[in-house]
Amino acid sequence: MEINYYGHSCFLIKVGGKKLLFDPFIRGNELAKEINIDSIEADYILVSHGHEDHTGDLVYLAKKTDATVIASFEITSWLQKQGINKVHPMNVGGNKNFEFGKVSMTYAAHSSSFADGTYAGVASGFVITAEGKSVYYSGDTGLTQEMKLIGEMHAISLALLPIGDNFTMDAKDAATAANFLNCKDVIGLHYDTFGFIVINNQEAINSFANKGVKLTLLKIGETFAA
Ligand code: NI
Ligand code: MN
Repeated sequence: MEINYYGHSCFLIKVGGKKLLFDPFIRGNELAKEINIDSIEADYILVSHGHEDHTGDLVYLAKKTDATVIASFEITSWLQKQGINKVHPMNVGGNKNFEFGKVSMTYAAHSSSFADGTYAGVASGFVITAEGKSVYYSGDTGLTQEMKLIGEMHAISLALLPIGDNFTMDAKDAATAANFLNCKDVIGLHYDTFGFIVINNQEAINSFANKGVKLTLLKIGETFAA
């Protein structure tokens, strides 16, 4: 597996010969100016919830890449009204085998609506099981007991978790989440993009180290081998 980071909560996982893009938000991110959105290729786009900082470039990239969008039923219905028909609706607790591996949709403690106010279903996360590994992307969420269950149901080798506080978990809670998940390797997301979520990066790394977990903070555009 290989992970490319595009800033905020947007990244691409190459797995099972396919490219999976998560929560596309690039042109609205001041910090991601060096990313050329038109260079991004995707076979699938996975969307955790409707908020603008996760869907800002969803319609544009779904049309441009002709990827299949995997998201809540409400998000895929919203896309179909805009002429995007390559969609796969899911809901929390559901699993589905795709050509690259298995997707499990997980609970997230967060809200979900589009910028125009349309209800976008419940917020979610994903576990991707492929190539003998399970990677967990929590989406925007607070710390929950459900993460213990996710850790029992899946052998999570890598978790991508929000650490920016204010709208989601902070680094301390995300480190507790990693312990709940039985996962020693975390990539931090959803921090520093805008004023509410600017954090001290070294303190975040220390918060994880205190709980025996390695936190990696990728540079925007950086590639990570998982
Ligand atoms: Ni959100
Ligand atoms: Mn967000």
